[in-house]
Amino acid sequence: MKTSLKIAALGASLLVAGTISQAAPASENWEANCAKCHGADGKGETKVGKKLKVKDYTDAAVQAKLTDDELLKAITTGVKEGEKEKMKAFNDVLTKEEIADLVAFVRKFKS
Ligand code: HEC
Repeated sequence: MKTSLKIAALGASLLVAGTISQAAPASENWEANCAKCHGADGKGETKVGKKLKVKDYTDAAVQAKLTDDELLKAITTGVKEGEKEKMKAFNDVLTKEEIADLVAFVRKFKS
């Protein structure tokens, strides 16, 4: 009974997502757009993450050095090192609300 209810709820939410483009929860956006480099756990211990030397967001010292504005700007306009793009801009993929939610989501990795 519980399972079928869950499936019905899932079906309904997929239907809604398909018709009106709703803001996806930060956890889903993280999984879909960010985890490849930053890791599902925010530690950045993925193949690409290690190569690009992403920071460990579970480290309080790392978090302390970053302001909310910096996080917001990095996700919105991307990160460049000189001319080289380290991380792409997400303002064409995610809404402002979704990006703000992701900033809060990144903060939550701190243990
Ligand atoms: C192609 C790999 C890649 C993807 C995908 C990616 N990032 Fe990044 N991100 C980076 C790199 C590389 C940096 C710069 C790290 C540095 O300079 O220490 C960075 C920097 C950041 C920063 C700035 C703070 C910092 O660590 O310097 C934030 C915030 C951030 N990423 C969040 C996200 C979010 C949220 C997503 C998904 C919407 C995402 N990233 C997707 C590679 C990626």
